Amino acid sequence: MTDDLYAVVGNPISHSKSPWIHSRFAAQAGEAIEYTAIQAPLEKFADTVEAFFSRGGKGLNVTVPFKQEAWAMATRRTQRAEKAGAANTLFIDSEGSLTADNTDGKGLVQDLTVNNQIELAGKRVLILGAGGAVRGVLGPVLAERPAALFIANRTPTKAAQLVELFRTEAGETVLGGGGSTDPEGVFDVIINGTSASLQGDLPPLSSELVGPATQGYDMMYSHEVTPFNRWIRDHGGKLGTDGVGMLVEQAAESFHVWRGIRPDTAPVIAALRSGAG
Ligand code: ATR
Repeated sequence: MTDDLYAVVGNPISHSKSPWIHSRFAAQAGEAIEYTAIQAPLEKFADTVEAFFSRGGKGLNVTVPFKQEAWAMATRRTQRAEKAGAANTLFIDSEGSLTADNTDGKGLVQDLTVNNQIELAGKRVLILGAGGAVRGVLGPVLAERPAALFIANRTPTKAAQLVELFRTEAGETVLGGGGSTDPEGVFDVIINGTSASLQGDLPPLSSELVGPATQGYDMMYSHEVTPFNRWIRDHGGKLGTDGVGMLVEQAAESFHVWRGIRPDTAPVIAALRSGAG
C-alpha cells in the first residue's frame, strides 16, 4: 500500500517547516503518510490543487499568498473557515466536495492558553493588525470570551471593518477598533498580527498600553526575540513568546482534521526551538 499523500502549497515554499512538523506527527502516531512542499506558480494555484487531489492526494495545507484563493475555490467551508475568509487546510469530504478549513485561530488560542498559560477569558486584549492573519484568528479569540478586544491597525478603516464583521461573535466582549494610537489603558495581552516584524518594524505604540502583567505574543516566529516582544519587555511588560507554537498547533489541528488523531505538540515545539527542522 502506498502512503497517504499530503502537502503544503505556497509561493515561496522552500523554507516551510510544515513537512518536517507533519513527519514528526506521523512518526509519533505510527501513521504512514508522505507530506511534501509544493510551490505553485502565482497564477496556477487552482490547477495545482486540482492536480494534487486528482492524483489521490488526501489533504493540503495552504500558505502565503494563497489562503484567500483556497477559501474561494472550495465548494464547502467549515464554520470557522467561513468567517475567517481564508483557508489553510483543504481536503475532500465524504461526499467528494473540496472543503476548506482554517486551523490558525485554534492554533493561536491553543498556544496561548495551553502551552503558555496566557488566558484570554475575562481579559483586556489588544490585537495589532487587521489583515488576513488577524481576520483568520478573530473567531477563536472571541470564543474565549475576553472582557474587551481592541483591534488597532495602521489603516483604521480596516480595523473598523473587522469590528463590523465580528460583531455577532463578540457577544458580551466589548469589541472596538481603530488606528495604532487609538487604544487606551493597560492591556493584559497584546498580540502582534501585523507583518511589520517581517521588515524588523513595529507599529507605533504607546508605552501606556503596557503594565507589569502585560503579556506580549508575536504571531510571527523567529529564532531571535522579535522587535515587538523586545518592545513589550523594554516597556515593563513580560517577555512574550513568538509564533512557533502557533505554527505547530495549527499543523496539529490540520493533522486532526485529516487523520482524526491529535498529535503531542510539546516535543515538536521544543525541537523547533532548539533549531531542528
Ligand atoms: P497578513 O496575511 O500577514 O495579515 P496582510 O493582509 O497584507 O497580510 O496584512 C498585513 C497587516 O500588517 C496589516 O494590518 C498591515 O497594516 P495596513 O492594513 O495598514 O496595511 C500591517 N502592517 C504591515 N506592515 C506594517 C508596518 N510597517 N507598520 C504597521 N503595520 C504594518
